[in-house]
Amino acid sequence: MHYLEPLFNPESVAIVGASHHEGKIGHTVVKNILESGYKGRIYPINPKGGEILGLKVYKSIFEIDDEIDVAIIVVPAKVAVEIIDDVAKKAKFIIVITSGFSEVGNIEGEKKIVETAKKYGSRVLGPNVFGIYSAKPPINATFGPSKIKAGNVAVVSQSGALGIAMIGKAAEENMGLSAIVSIGNKADLTEVEILSYLFEDEITKVVFLYIEGLENGRDFLDIIRKRPPGKSIIVLKAGRSKAGARAVASHTGSLAGSDAIFDAAFRQVGILRAESLEDGLNWVTTVALSPPPKGKNVVIVTNGGGLGVIAADACEKYGLHLLDDMEVLKKTFQDVMPEFGSYKNPVDITGQAGGKEYKVALERAFKEKSIHAILALYCDRGDAEIEEIKNALVEVHKKYRNKPALYTIFGGEGATSIITALKKEGLPAFSDVEDAVSSLYALYKVNERKDEGKMEEVKMDEDKIKQVIEKALKEKRRKLLSNEAKEILKAAGVDVPEFYVAKNIEEAIEAANKIGYPIVMKVISEDIIHKTDVGGVVLNIENEKEAAEAYEAIIESCKRNVPKARIRGVEVTKMLPKGVETIVGSTTDPSFGKVVMFGLGGIYVEVMKDVTFRVAPLPKKEIRRMIREIESYPILAGVRGEKGKDIEAIVDTIYRIGLLVTKFEEIMELDINPLIVYEKGAKVADARMSIKVRK
Ligand code: ACO
Repeated sequence: MHYLEPLFNPESVAIVGASHHEGKIGHTVVKNILESGYKGRIYPINPKGGEILGLKVYKSIFEIDDEIDVAIIVVPAKVAVEIIDDVAKKAKFIIVITSGFSEVGNIEGEKKIVETAKKYGSRVLGPNVFGIYSAKPPINATFGPSKIKAGNVAVVSQSGALGIAMIGKAAEENMGLSAIVSIGNKADLTEVEILSYLFEDEITKVVFLYIEGLENGRDFLDIIRKRPPGKSIIVLKAGRSKAGARAVASHTGSLAGSDAIFDAAFRQVGILRAESLEDGLNWVTTVALSPPPKGKNVVIVTNGGGLGVIAADACEKYGLHLLDDMEVLKKTFQDVMPEFGSYKNPVDITGQAGGKEYKVALERAFKEKSIHAILALYCDRGDAEIEEIKNALVEVHKKYRNKPALYTIFGGEGATSIITALKKEGLPAFSDVEDAVSSLYALYKVNERKDEGKMEEVKMDEDKIKQVIEKALKEKRRKLLSNEAKEILKAAGVDVPEFYVAKNIEEAIEAANKIGYPIVMKVISEDIIHKTDVGGVVLNIENEKEAAEAYEAIIESCKRNVPKARIRGVEVTKMLPKGVETIVGSTTDPSFGKVVMFGLGGIYVEVMKDVTFRVAPLPKKEIRRMIREIESYPILAGVRGEKGKDIEAIVDTIYRIGLLVTKFEEIMELDINPLIVYEKGAKVADARMSIKVRK
């Protein structure tokens, strides 16, 4: 049994602050519990005693001679803090409906509630929640609408008002709920634990989660990864806007708006993210009502050619596959349409076909094994067939139910009445064909299991990495010098071309001769960020003479332009030949921790921000997907007769970076910019790294 079972299926509930006055929240909660048909024991608590809705009222929680699974607190915040010790002594779970805690800056009050509960081993839902509904007992311990239809959709909402509104919307859509949980300030129980229960709950088929942020992103991803087959989740995460200005030292950091990371993390584990409430509701309803598709072949059956074309376009946009086996289509549909109809998918039985023909066509689609999903479109002809068509659709759908079938009814009042009737009968029905197609796409997506691949062992010189980091930490330097960053990358097994640090002309020449011309020289200084701008970089050095001149020029120019800069020397390295410039980076996200980034360099990253993220570390299989995600991917894959670049070398680099930043948590930000990719191999041309300085 899951440890949250008593919260969702309590044998006894106490309402602390149960009110004698109709309309007060403490009264509505008692009323809703009673009206929901709850069979367990109900204990209203109020110092005034008496009776509420025919129930004996207890003056104190200690008067109750029973164990209490759930106590619901509906007294003002100040009182809640005063009584929490008593409640926590008695109740396993405490739902704090009361507002006025951390959301308004009352951090202390909230802390007191959670810590007291913890002392007695109880758990807290809230504060600042509307309560909980659970279909199992059933119990409606909310102050929202009293009537909730039981079903297989669980709604978990960070926003209370939105959650309450969802109860109403679910009723309108005829969507049955298995649970509705408000998580409010998430002071103790968060969406992670709630989801772990709901994924085990036998009634729940799909969870609709509304969140604004996540504190424990990694636990969240793990719960999603571990969910059993047949359990789906659709997330509506608000706050697509960019994260506020953050003090970031790297390119990766500045590109990593928190929403981009959420998007990437969701993609990584295969979470379907809804763009809007409307999409979310359509998708959840469809998933709740439909069996999973057994294959990719979709068929569109329509009585209106135009609607069929719109649907076909939408299918292409969402990547749905229309059955194109002409033999099957002909055999299945040809004899149910007039000569001028078309059995090619979209199957257009034409406006001439009446309810009877439509019914037969639909029935054929259900019966044909190589059809896996049906988009049934009907243009309301404004004639007397409304009843007939309505009955036909419901009858055929209920008779088969063996594959997903989504209905779009387009037209005026008649269409609306058909849609309402279909929804009432539990058929996924829409007025807009795009909604139907996007919902079918959602159904396919939620049923896909994502295989991220397996991690592999790679060798790293961990002692060397530690040594470089320790040195910087000792000197309280947040930014590593470029040669230190390169040393770490090299020790991590990334391909860093040979480089030396020269402290004088002789050393510079010796290094250049060792490496072989052409070479590059760059100033090494923690105080100089834009090296080229201050004359700190010389490219294409061809011989000893040029090497000596370059060394002198760099030192002189940097001293002149940035007189206070600490100059540690000059880095001497091979001038790399031209290749495709990419950027590989890592940053530390407040919700998900270490993440990696990949994109093409130059204008692709600067102007188009064509980059992609993942939570680190991640297996190579997922890295390959990540790389293919960027829009400029064809440049790497090879365009216009050019040979493709060594994508596996990029994969290996990102893989090692993912491991490096997870093993060495001190590395807060990292940029390899550029990583130059060739037909064979990928080499680090420049790197930056910053670490977390110990206090
Ligand atoms: N033990 C038990 N009951 C007590 C105690 C006590 N120690 N002290 C007082 N009470 C009783 C009161 O006598 C009263 O009962 P009565 O009406 O019979 O006299 C009852 O508890 C409630 O106390 P009130 O002082 O009347 O409080 P009120 O009902 O006005 O407000 C509430 C309490 C609803 C918890 C309020 O403080 C609050 O937080 N409201 C916001 C709730 C909310 O919106 N939550 C978020 C939901 S999500 C969303 O956004 C929709």
